[in-house]
Amino acid sequence: MFTMGGAVFPLLAIAGLATAATPYAPQTPPLTTDWTEGLGTNPWPEYPRPQLQRSQWQSLNGIWEYRNAESSGAIGAPPFGQELDTEVMIPSCLESGLSGLQGQNTLYSWLSTNFTVDDDWDGQSILLNFGAVDYEASVFINGQNVGLHRGGYFEFSVDATEYINFGADNELLVFVHDPTDGEGAVIPIGKQTLNQRHIFYRPCSGIWQSVWLEAAPADHISRLDLTADMDGEVTVTVHSASGNATSVEVTVEEGDETIASETGTANSEFKFTVPDIQRWSPDSPSLYNVTVTLGDDQVRSYTGFRTISKGTVDGVVRPLVNGEFRFIFGTLDQGYWPDGLYTPPNREAMTYDLQLLKDLGFNMVRKHIKVEPALFYRACDELGLLVIQDMPSLAVQPNAAQQLEFVRQLELLVNQLKNYPSIMSWVIYNEGWGQILTTYPEFDLTERVRELDPTRLVNSVTGWYDHGAGDYSDNHHYANPQCGTPFYSTPSSPYDPERIGIQGEFGGIGHNVTIENLWNVQATISTIPETYEIGSSIEVWNYRSRVLLQELRDQIQRFACSAAVWTQTTDVEGEVNGLMTYDRRLKRVDERQWREDIEGLYSAARGRVG
Ligand SMILES: *[C@@H]1O[C@H](CO)[C@@H](O)[C@H](O)[C@H]1NC(C)=O
Ligand SMILES: *[C@@H]1O[C@H](CO)[C@@H](O)[C@H](O)[C@H]1NC(C)=O
Ligand SMILES: *[C@@H]1O[C@H](CO)[C@@H](O)[C@H](O)[C@H]1NC(C)=O
Ligand SMILES: *[C@@H]1O[C@H](CO)[C@@H](O)[C@H](O)[C@H]1NC(C)=O
Repeated sequence: MFTMGGAVFPLLAIAGLATAATPYAPQTPPLTTDWTEGLGTNPWPEYPRPQLQRSQWQSLNGIWEYRNAESSGAIGAPPFGQELDTEVMIPSCLESGLSGLQGQNTLYSWLSTNFTVDDDWDGQSILLNFGAVDYEASVFINGQNVGLHRGGYFEFSVDATEYINFGADNELLVFVHDPTDGEGAVIPIGKQTLNQRHIFYRPCSGIWQSVWLEAAPADHISRLDLTADMDGEVTVTVHSASGNATSVEVTVEEGDETIASETGTANSEFKFTVPDIQRWSPDSPSLYNVTVTLGDDQVRSYTGFRTISKGTVDGVVRPLVNGEFRFIFGTLDQGYWPDGLYTPPNREAMTYDLQLLKDLGFNMVRKHIKVEPALFYRACDELGLLVIQDMPSLAVQPNAAQQLEFVRQLELLVNQLKNYPSIMSWVIYNEGWGQILTTYPEFDLTERVRELDPTRLVNSVTGWYDHGAGDYSDNHHYANPQCGTPFYSTPSSPYDPERIGIQGEFGGIGHNVTIENLWNVQATISTIPETYEIGSSIEVWNYRSRVLLQELRDQIQRFACSAAVWTQTTDVEGEVNGLMTYDRRLKRVDERQWREDIEGLYSAARGRVG
């Protein structure tokens, strides 16, 4: 825009170009939330990566341009220097209303933006960071292909330094290919499908998490592995861009005060102990700021001191938080939004769900076959909500090459998230989805996960085909729990006393609502009767919930039940079994009753100890 005689004219109108991109406007989704309206065009303004935070950064979120591409062949003719067809909000799922497109079958896409980089940044390395692009991204800067990333849930960075024009315009063009479950693809997708039905939902394609630039010295911190235990011991590896054995310094702060400081060598693990720490736990989620320095590069991070382990307490194998058994109770948390699908409308909306869980007394959330933006895990760390983190599943059995790619992405998952104090367990397979049943790969994968992260428990198989791998003996059963009991349903094996008894899923009772709170798509509405059980009113729903929680409590008292996951936080599309509806406008939970019942589970567990 520029001004002429006091009036503001769009530059393109003056230039008289006929083919202006269709301006951005949010499309009306089948259901809105209280956050849908008035979100504006400055989405996710927060620094996106709280555990490796640089002061010199620039968000590229906002209005970009989009063009559908017909096939993979389109990558041979990138639309450099062109105005594309439609404005689109980034980050977003192209299938969401908030994207401005609400696209369907957006298998191949071009996405572009222009940006300038301050002259001040000249002489430094310019890093272009993506929080997540679903599924495969080819990145072009000023006409140069600078990188390819595969995997819809994982962050990646491109060193853009040599492609950037300082103090001038730059063009960023991204080619995205996301087959979801089409084109014969067998890739990690979780609940996304091109063919939506009951428990499988609308897919997400494109740049669905933040994009940003930052300036750093040529030899900079490229990754940080940082964990801290209940005895104050910090374990650090500072990875550097050069891979050289440069000296690094790590300081731990409490408020404005440095309480510990240690030097070490980049790219090698080192340990040190901080005296008199306050432990992190769900009741008291104390976090400490950390500053890491490598040469001229300095990043801010944080950690929490806590230990997750397992041990035998009064004859039962239990999960331990800081050496003590406490009952772990959370919800199945899909992380879907009617207006943004995989991308929450904003940070406030995202933490709204977590705060409700915390207020009800849950101490855990099971992040179900999805990976969230880093700020979600930061919120769990701050609130004191433990996280059971699932690997996003494959829809069907993989061939050998697809399995290798699944394993590669499992490693990305663990490496990306292993610093968050709130994460207590990894899940490799959910209900047999994509689980090879002939060779039991979960044994090797469990060992691989333990190598990458020895500080967490591994739930190798949640539900269904348990062959004895990992730390948990997990049962899924609807609606009533069968937690750590001898009377397991098939095809799960009976409770294995060598491992921790967990009810990986139960509940799932439904209650239909009027169209104002429903995902208004007839095909999904017609799948509502597939719900395990539908109560005729909210009172009935709460009555049945109380009965199921009492049964769980009974199993905690009698058997070896150490943890459980209630299905689920919210309704999603054709599923009407949430603590609240998909739009978060109607809470089914009787909050007083639930708080009482959840506290009853914890007190039953305390009654088993000592
Ligand atoms: C980027 O610049 C090009 C060339 O001036 C223009 O055609 C295009 O519309 C711009 N893209 C965006 C997203 O503003
Ligand atoms: C890394 O070490 C090599 C060999 O000593 C040296 O040539 C190079 O300049 C170093 N790189 C950086 C970024 O310090
Ligand atoms: C960490 O640092 C931020 C400012 O950088 C400050 O707001 C926050 O209070 C600090 N947290 C702790 C636990 O000291
Ligand atoms: C659920 O409610 C919707 C809208 O109120 C209705 O169209 C649908 O038939 C109901 N389904 C069931 C199974 O009650």
